[in-house]
Amino acid sequence: MTTEFETPETVSWHVAAPVSAFPADGGACVKIDGRQIAVFNFSHTGEWYACQNMCPHKMQMILSRGLIGDQQGEPKVACPYHKKTFSLCTGENLNGDSYRIETYPVRVDAGMVYVGL
Ligand code: FES
Repeated sequence: MTTEFETPETVSWHVAAPVSAFPADGGACVKIDGRQIAVFNFSHTGEWYACQNMCPHKMQMILSRGLIGDQQGEPKVACPYHKKTFSLCTGENLNGDSYRIETYPVRVDAGMVYVGL
């Protein structure tokens, strides 16, 4: 299953981990090419999302441990430190702050999760 991203033709797919490594309706951090990537398993909808693990508010490597949910249908993650919230589709900060995060497409195939970078 693939999330509803427009996947650029230049994307390069990287193995993240088996599906079982990610908690239901939660996230986990994987390291790909030296980058920490937060991967989220929205098991209640069957969708997957990924973003940078670093919260740009205070540069903390923490977003994989954030609370996930949706805001009027838009999947989001809230940083556990100060609750800054980001769209997992656009990376936009949903609190109105100017900083944003990088988001990445996710693909699941034969029990493995892949992130496109
Ligand atoms: S460090 Fe994430 S909201 Fe402050």
